[in-house]
This record gives sequence, structure tokens and C-alpha cells, in this order.
Amino acid sequence: RPYRVAILGATGAVGQELLELLESRNFPLADLKLLASARSAGQKISFKGESLAVEAVDDKSFDGIDIVLASAGGSTSKAMAPKAVEAGAVVIDNSSAFRMNPEVPLVVPEVNPEAASEHKGIIANPNCTTILMAVAVYPLHKVKKIRRIIAATYQSASGAGAKAMAEVQTQASAILSGQQPVASIFPYPLAFNLFPHNTPLNEMGYCEEEMKMVNETRKIFGTQEIRVSATCVRVPVLRAHSEAINLEFDEPFDKDEARKILSSAPGVKLVDDWQGNYFPMPIDATGRDEVLVGRIRQDISHNCGLELWLCGDQIRKGAALNAVQIAELLVEKNIVKPKLAVALT
Ligand code: A2P
Repeated sequence: RPYRVAILGATGAVGQELLELLESRNFPLADLKLLASARSAGQKISFKGESLAVEAVDDKSFDGIDIVLASAGGSTSKAMAPKAVEAGAVVIDNSSAFRMNPEVPLVVPEVNPEAASEHKGIIANPNCTTILMAVAVYPLHKVKKIRRIIAATYQSASGAGAKAMAEVQTQASAILSGQQPVASIFPYPLAFNLFPHNTPLNEMGYCEEEMKMVNETRKIFGTQEIRVSATCVRVPVLRAHSEAINLEFDEPFDKDEARKILSSAPGVKLVDDWQGNYFPMPIDATGRDEVLVGRIRQDISHNCGLELWLCGDQIRKGAALNAVQIAELLVEKNIVKPKLAVALT
């Protein structure tokens, strides 16, 4: 049956992509409600040739809604997701608010689709960098257990939202016309620059983004045993993230076997042209559904190590597409209604 869907954060970068995906993937919609802050109330957005008005979200917004796709930040999700669950909807939440809550499944459909069935009203969409890495390395982990992951990320401006993308473009034009770049969303100019991810640091010196890669990977893979260490960096790319990944397995993993596995892995496109020295690039990943993976090679420093490089569209597979795939999973398995709804805070 068709479903009544609400997008919370419809005016944002991820919200806009959610709209595009619901249309292009022909999601079975009975009705679509666009929600954002009071600042955007009345703004018109076109969907399937119709003009829909954005509404300011409030406690009553979720009456009669089956599925909420939320991407309006952690504090909005914390306040609004429990209201949506109370109103009988299932919330697929793109924020970090509920990801590590043991009552909330954290789902990458290519990795742990079965976890979605356990939902109690909220399903969390993982962190973008974590999703992209999980899609690329889980097919290898299924064959031989990964013991340790060392990641270095090159993250685009889109991770900080539509305003951050606009800020980088404005900074670039300012610099090109000889003016000083102004930073307001980011702490420093990002155009023609890069800086370590600007999320808060813990007592070990890891930033929040890095710890998301550690903790969320373990939850998605269903094991606390994988050791993960990451260095996350923001780079002046608009919307696709890149990651250099070093994997250590329990036993040697042949690069050609890894390449073969990844060539048919769901959600992965192999871009591994050694003759042409052509490998994944953010401009090629932009607007694509698949995570591009290449430069698969033996680690010369460790006999059980593999190196790979990936790029993936942060707004698409890193956020909106993963959320829509979760919604499609709910529909396909007929689990839109939770077994037991709980009001989480
Ligand atoms: P608005 O445009 O009305 O501010 P992005 O991540 O691209 O910055 O987008 C954030 C999204 O979250 C936007 O749609 C934004 O709406 C929405 N949003 C931000 N704060 C709130 C809030 N307090 N209540 C509802 N929506 C919010």
C-alpha cells in the first residue's frame, strides 16, 4: 500500500536529496509532507510536478504519518522523533541523536538489513563516513574477519549542510578576486585549505567524527572486537567524501581475491584502473549511488594487511539514499509498524 511520508529538514541539503530519491525511485507514496523550521514555513518546493508548501514542524505534524525521514540535526530529532513515534510513525533518523541507543537499530542495508526488523519506532541512519566505509569493507569482512581498520578521511563541505557548501563557494570566489575569505559555518576558511574535522575532541584526542567511525562500525558489524582508528579531515570538496583505508585481517588476504569480491559487492563500483592510473575521485562519485573503490593493494608493511581507497557521495549513500533504502526495506518486509513502540528521549 502507499505510505504517508514526512521529510523533516526538507529544505536542507539531505532533505532536497530525499525528495529527489523518493521521486526517482518511485517510492510508494500516498502523501508527502515537507517539514522544516518556522523560518521556511510557506516556502514552495516542487515534487513530481506539484508545488508543495513547507510547514513549520510542531507536535501535531506527525498525525497520520507512517514514515518520517528526519535530517534536521540532533537537537530537532531529539525533540521531535519521540513525538512522531507517539503519533504512530516510524522515524528514520539521519542525526547522531539515537545511533548508539541500544533500543535503536543502526542500519546499512547492504550490511545489516535484518537489524531493521527490531525497530521500536526509530531506526538510525549511520554517520556518512561510516556508511561509505562499511559498504566497502563489509564484503571483505564476511570472507575473512577484519581485526583492525586505520582510516584517513577527506570529507567534503556537504557534511556540514547546504549553508556550508555555499560558504566554500563564496570563499573560493572571494579568494579568486583577491579578497579575504570569510568563515562563519566552519571555524576556518575551507576553500584552498583543509583542517582536521571540527567536532569536539575527547580526552584521548579523538574528535566526535572519528569516534563515530569507531563505535558505529562496531554496532553495524555486530562485533565489539574490530579495532578502528581514524583521522578525519575536512577538504574543500563540495559533496563527496574520500577515505584511505588500511585493513588488517586475521590471515593474509590476497588483493586479487579482494578485487573480485568487491567487483560484485552490493553498493560498490570498482574503479581500479592500474594501467590508466585512474581511481575513485569525488567528482566521479558525486550524484552516484555506489561507493567507488579502488587502489586495492597488499600492505607492504604487514602480511595480513590490505590498502584501499574509496569515494562516495556523502549526501546520497552517506545520508539520503541510505535512509530511503531503509524505508524501502521497511515496506518490502512489511515492518513499517514497530513490534513495540517506545518513547525514547
Ligand atoms: P530551515 O531551512 O528552515 O532552517 P542542512 O543540514 O543542509 O543545514 O539542513 C538542515 C535542515 O534542518 C533544514 O531543512 C532546516 O530547516 C532544518 N532545521 C534546522 N533546525 C530546525 C528546527 N529547529 N526545526 C525544524 N527544522 C530545522
